[in-house]
Amino acid sequence: DQNKFQAIISHCKEYGFIFQSSEIYDGLSAVYDYGQYGAELKRNIRDYWWKSMTQMHENIVGIDSAIFMHPTIWKASGHVDNFSDPMIDNKDSKKRYRVDHLIEGHADTLPEPAKAALIQKMEDLLKENDYAGLKTLIEEEKIKCSVSGTSNWTEVRQFNLMFSTQLGSVADDASEVYLRPETAQGIFVNFLNVQKTGRMKIPFGIAQVGKAFRNEIVARQFVFRMREFEQMEMQFFIRPGTQQEWYAYWKEERMKWHKSLGLKPENLQYHDHVKLAHYADAAVDIEYNFPIGFKEVEGIHSRTDFDLSQHQKFSGKKMQYFDPEINQNYIPYVIETSIGLDRCCLMILSEAYEEEDLSTPEKQDSRVILKFPVKLAPIKLAIFPLTKRDGLPEIAKELMADCKKNFYCFYEEKDAIGKRYRRQDAIGTPFCVTVDHQTKEDGTVTIRHRDSMEQERIPMSSVKELVMKAMMD
Ligand code: GAP
Repeated sequence: DQNKFQAIISHCKEYGFIFQSSEIYDGLSAVYDYGQYGAELKRNIRDYWWKSMTQMHENIVGIDSAIFMHPTIWKASGHVDNFSDPMIDNKDSKKRYRVDHLIEGHADTLPEPAKAALIQKMEDLLKENDYAGLKTLIEEEKIKCSVSGTSNWTEVRQFNLMFSTQLGSVADDASEVYLRPETAQGIFVNFLNVQKTGRMKIPFGIAQVGKAFRNEIVARQFVFRMREFEQMEMQFFIRPGTQQEWYAYWKEERMKWHKSLGLKPENLQYHDHVKLAHYADAAVDIEYNFPIGFKEVEGIHSRTDFDLSQHQKFSGKKMQYFDPEINQNYIPYVIETSIGLDRCCLMILSEAYEEEDLSTPEKQDSRVILKFPVKLAPIKLAIFPLTKRDGLPEIAKELMADCKKNFYCFYEEKDAIGKRYRRQDAIGTPFCVTVDHQTKEDGTVTIRHRDSMEQERIPMSSVKELVMKAMMD
């Protein structure tokens, strides 16, 4: 539903979640900035992931490696030679397209079963790296360039997605470095550092969150596909031969995590990979039902000993682990879980966004609401004095001072209460508390619940605990 997708994008801008980067200069394509509420939402998701991966797993630790790394790392990892997508240019418009996106976009306009058949044909050709076949397919399907409307295509060729830049003196060739296209390699090259200093025993994991960069060609899907984005990755190091059971374990464990975010089970599905990345021997995506259809949010990959073996070969350093239980040295195998933080934000926003019709026979009414789980909501509690007089602001500020040490609160005394409620609905604040004249008499306040809009009177002294309890769910 493109309309819903557009409505979410507008809402994100209007309410301070996500802005186009460099907007006053007409923007920078596929780069976005998080505003005051978007940054909080993103941080809450990041913290929740970090906690569920590290704190909740005694055998997983977190690191924070640099974006710049030795250039040979990307040679060893295979990214210099293999991290590319087949591209095609339209000769008239001079526009460049990723072949798979061009064909998928066209397939979306077809009815089933033609759509599924076309996707299958494309996947077969991609798997075979059959570029001539892909070009023929594009021509047979009479796919036109979206800009000039012509179907005058070049040959299909590979285009590397890594950004490069110069470290130090620009003249020196040897100083060319890449902006990392995945955070995982920072974990692989620190594998022995962490294993030794943390006295880690296999199986164990290393987690990290950080920026990654890819020169994406088709990039017009808001924060779904960006050129600068954030990944949350975990490499789980295991004994060779146990990869199938650990792959199954993480596949299930990660699906549970998604469900713990309050996502409806019918909006989540697995998608097994047909075309495997250069490092993987098995791979599955967890897909979410975005307004633009089911799309990948997270990948779980069985990476074998590919990366560590490659680093051993290129660095000349032993990447082995001595397993005291079986008295053997080996290069561990790896199961990876890799999720995009920005895509995760978009998933949470898509699930939470609702336009509710509140009309009664007497009056037309509606509201836009973000039904975030309490633990992810940017603001947990809004505090409103009913009026600016009679000492009500002072009482409300007392509550504010008490609560803000524990969670993010918002204070407001302007406008009618109804209007203030609606603004909080639009940014997904689960609770609003109003301090009124009765508060002065009996110490109670009105608490209003976002989703049901129900209001109840509770002692002001119990507000903090109520919110903190809801955050734990
Ligand atoms: N280390 C493995 C790896 O990077 P990937 O499937 O290429 O695997 C993992 O990326 C996740 O990163 C994806 O599932 C997606 O959520 C996110 N991601 C990848 N490219 C992205 C982009 N251009 N914009 C936003 N998120 C992206």
